[in-house]
Amino acid sequence: MSIIGKDIEKVVSLLIKGELVAIPTETVYGLAANGLDENAVLKIYQTKNRPAFNPLILHTNSIDKVREIVDTFPPNAELLAKTFWPGPLTLVLDKSASVPEITSAGLNTIAVRIPNHALTLELLSKLPFPLAAPSANASGSISPTMPGHVEKTLGTKIPYILDGGNCQIGIESTILKIDKEKVYLLRAGTISAEEIEEKCGIKVIKNNIDRSIQSPGMLRSHYAPQKKLLAFNREELEEFIKNSKNQEICILAFDTYIDSIPTPNQRLLSVKKDELEAARNLFNMLHELDEMDSELILAEFLPEKGIGIAINDKLRRASANK
Ligand code: TXA
Ligand code: MG
Repeated sequence: MSIIGKDIEKVVSLLIKGELVAIPTETVYGLAANGLDENAVLKIYQTKNRPAFNPLILHTNSIDKVREIVDTFPPNAELLAKTFWPGPLTLVLDKSASVPEITSAGLNTIAVRIPNHALTLELLSKLPFPLAAPSANASGSISPTMPGHVEKTLGTKIPYILDGGNCQIGIESTILKIDKEKVYLLRAGTISAEEIEEKCGIKVIKNNIDRSIQSPGMLRSHYAPQKKLLAFNREELEEFIKNSKNQEICILAFDTYIDSIPTPNQRLLSVKKDELEAARNLFNMLHELDEMDSELILAEFLPEKGIGIAINDKLRRASANK
């Protein structure tokens, strides 16, 4: 089984040897390896059972190091980086020749971010290479937000889990693709398009339908529990429960319990209707509900705005047929 600990020197030596280590970030735990070492990166794909067409994000601790892995770092990327890094924002830029094809899954762009977690920033400052790190879960399943989640699915496959406690953001970073002057939203996260427009004056193009500008990893079925999950708005949810008398159900609701279901079978994302708190709780509560005895998880959508857009996107993918 993996060791769970805080020994950064040990992690540095494992990574230099080409091994995999789970690392904490503010969003979710990552399954990290030397992003410039083809063999180490190949182990990430094998360990997660990740499709070879799904590129990885490179993590570093400074904008200078980012410049070494991208071809150009245009002014709009610089403004976004200065505003949101370290933080839950990933930028997709043209890649430099130093990044192996396997890391970008053959694309000529590369995703980069500076995560906001003290332990991981310290680790990155000691490494002479960036870390490729997808979420530290089996491909398609619920993302990990604490060391125990990683241990549950990857515990027999990796030597070390760097213990950084519970992830404070709790859902994956917002991903933007920078294409010359244009900025496209590839994945919604806690930094919303509205916040980006407000703080940087940069227009974010949403819902683009051009396949060449989409993320190859935005699979229709993703973040899925072992159990069947269905997601509804509140009215539909109550109606569904009325019509499903004999089923063992557990509930993931936004801020108030459903009267007809025992409360131990329910989780509330945020009684204060705080979207950030809801994001932080989302995967953790899905992990808990997945371990209960019931057959079915019913989840309630948040209002479709701000961070609610990212949470609802995860719920839709978690409910898609595998
Ligand atoms: O918060 C996060 O971003 C976490 C933590 C560990 O940093 N990482 C994460 O990685 O969510 P992953 O591999 O689970 O998701 C990466 C997403 C995938 O949807 C992938 O397709 C997309 O980023 N992506 C990576 N490189 C890309 C590229 N060059 N062009 C378009 N999409 C890209
Ligand atoms: Mg993932």
